[in-house]
Amino acid sequence: MHKQCELIMVKRKAPVVRAKFSRRNRVTIATSDCLRFLRTIPDGEAALVVTSPPYNVGKKYETQLSLDEYIAFHTKVIAECVRAVRKTGSICYVVGHTRLADKRLVPLDIILHDVFDRFGLKLRNRIIWHFEHGLNSKNRFSGRHESILWYTRSDDFTFNLDAVRVPQKYPGKRHYKGPHKGLYSGNPSGKNPGDVWKIPNVKANHVEKTTHPCQFPIGLAETLILSFSNRNDLILDPFFGVGSTAVAALRTGRRVAGCDLDRGYIEVARQRIRLALVGRLKTRPRDRQVYQPSSDSKLLTRD
Ligand SMILES: C[S@@+](CC[C@H](N)C(=O)[O-])C[C@H]1O[C@@H](n2cnc3c(N)ncnc32)[C@H](O)[C@@H]1O
Repeated sequence: MHKQCELIMVKRKAPVVRAKFSRRNRVTIATSDCLRFLRTIPDGEAALVVTSPPYNVGKKYETQLSLDEYIAFHTKVIAECVRAVRKTGSICYVVGHTRLADKRLVPLDIILHDVFDRFGLKLRNRIIWHFEHGLNSKNRFSGRHESILWYTRSDDFTFNLDAVRVPQKYPGKRHYKGPHKGLYSGNPSGKNPGDVWKIPNVKANHVEKTTHPCQFPIGLAETLILSFSNRNDLILDPFFGVGSTAVAALRTGRRVAGCDLDRGYIEVARQRIRLALVGRLKTRPRDRQVYQPSSDSKLLTRD
């Protein structure tokens, strides 16, 4: 059976959201540059960083940088993340491609891997986040995935596989030989979800859509948080946006700290956190299958 994640819906007064980090805070959010904010987090305080940085593609929230400037900036950010994460902790960076001023397309996971590697971090998975909708390209294949780079600081790290198992594809399959012949062969708690995750992106009429152009799904952050941290652990997101990481952290009983340069996004994040804490934020459950129209659906045929 698929093990449901435990969602914590706190039906009491929401905790105060603080702007200055303290170990006692459940939620710390600041309107701030990420480097300045990260420097306020004590060494080894966090269990996990879950974040998605600007991709340097000319969005309204970013200043276009050269590739060297982009790498130099992330070298500083990653250095601070490594310092703030404990020895058994993890860093997850959700990235796509960048498009340089001369129009060259560069995969950010490839260029940032060198930076993580220089800090001695160990790549555990390059997870492919696959979604089926987005911009339709005319002169190349339409982009339908991003990468989630999962690094650990050491070989001793938190990994709660049982918290994120998914239903077996063939639950009735049995061993056909050997000492277990005739017994069910799959783990009754479900199978390892693998490193390709099919999760709709937050566009158009997605239930989680806000004014932010590039949110990631709360379910995606929840899967990372359940896998790589434990209850009451601190989760960091230095590129907070509208707080998708925060909602995921609080719903799973973790603490969270993060920042964004944009005051408007921080305000939306605060509202989402308030709603999440009283169980009123609409979200897409992380274990909901992608919609499949029924065989008689009008979507499947044309007149
Ligand atoms: C890809 S978005 C993150 C979206 C977020 N994961 C969510 O689901 O809402 C990147 C965010 O980084 C913020 N940002 C850009 N430069 C920053 C900086 N130097 N420090 C902090 N935040 C920054 C942007 O305002 C933007 O909201």
